[in-house]
Amino acid sequence: MSLYQIKIYVQNNILLPIVHRHRKLADLYYFLFSSEFSREHQKVLKGKYIHLKAMKEGRPNAFHLRRQIHRLEKGLIMKNRRSLFALDYIGDTVNNYKILSEKLETTQEIDEGLLLWASHVLQKYFNVVDHNEVIKPLYELFCQIDHKVKYQKEPKEYVPYKRAVVKKSQISYDDFLQLTIQRRSVRYFLPDEVPYDLIEKACTAAAYAPSACNRQPFEFRIFTEKDMKNKVGAIPAGIRPFFKNIPVIIVLIGKLSAYPFERDRHVMYLDGGLASMSFILALETLGLSSLTINWPDIEFMENQMDNTIALEPDERPMMLIGLGYADPEGGIPYSQKKSHEQLLVANK
Ligand SMILES: Cc1cc2nc3c(=O)[nH]c(=O)nc-3n(C[C@H](O)[C@H](O)[C@H](O)COP(=O)(O)O)c2cc1C
Repeated sequence: MSLYQIKIYVQNNILLPIVHRHRKLADLYYFLFSSEFSREHQKVLKGKYIHLKAMKEGRPNAFHLRRQIHRLEKGLIMKNRRSLFALDYIGDTVNNYKILSEKLETTQEIDEGLLLWASHVLQKYFNVVDHNEVIKPLYELFCQIDHKVKYQKEPKEYVPYKRAVVKKSQISYDDFLQLTIQRRSVRYFLPDEVPYDLIEKACTAAAYAPSACNRQPFEFRIFTEKDMKNKVGAIPAGIRPFFKNIPVIIVLIGKLSAYPFERDRHVMYLDGGLASMSFILALETLGLSSLTINWPDIEFMENQMDNTIALEPDERPMMLIGLGYADPEGGIPYSQKKSHEQLLVANK
């Protein structure tokens, strides 16, 4: 037995039956006997630190603004809306909007779309709440901001709207089901180049996926240039035999600086997964196929990826996606699916 095998044996057969019983024993185990979570711990703290530091130093924090504006919109759509609400965070929101407005063009997170949304929702908020001693000076501050976008005094766009005005899609359930059946993990592709605008289209659809507090803490980092694509594709173990024939590889990056609280550390994975599903289904409608690629939390692979694509301290790959035109002769595993009887557990 190698030293590594002895370590795994001791961990799984001697320690595990004891330490799983109590949370403090688990803490001790991960402190003394395993470093499996240590980088994750540090990354979560790094993200939190970056988030809070920006706010403390009065620097732009687009994730924070996205969350605050989202909260205001939820307040605005309340059926029994109070004449005053959001008093605990409206000051912070106006200040953050001011900072971001002044820093437009300094980061890719701050764009016109975000500022339009924020300014319109803030204006709408000020239009509907009572102007008491808290709101009055904040509205004055809001009006004095050097707005980088044109907003309306009676906002009609970028603000909450009624469900009834939404244009209905003509996709039937049968068509949608067929699309989900058509999508299968494809591992063999034609060498044909993928038009970039099709990927952009799929990404536009992905952006409409739900995301906690509308933060959208992810980025689809795309590699189409052969050498770089192959360098990235060579890292994850799950595609080793066939990565070279995948024409485009995307690394889906999550950003932990979106969160000031540890409790939200898993949210980026959910948000990223939901956006990816829309992305992948959109690809199918455009004639493209894809493969989701696992990104387990393995130290040396994280370092390899970091050295290859230079991640920011708060960034972590969540998974990879390969895409291209499917080779019609390529095999597709049957991959039997669970039934709705198995998946739906009603009222239990
Ligand atoms: C998070 C995730 C990671 C995956 N990783 C890999 C991978 O590394 N290599 C691979 O060949 N397939 C990978 N797959 C594809 C799955 O094997 C596949 O989705 C599953 O077997 C069901 O097949 P289907 O996608 O054709 O329905 C992954 C899928 C997901 C959702």
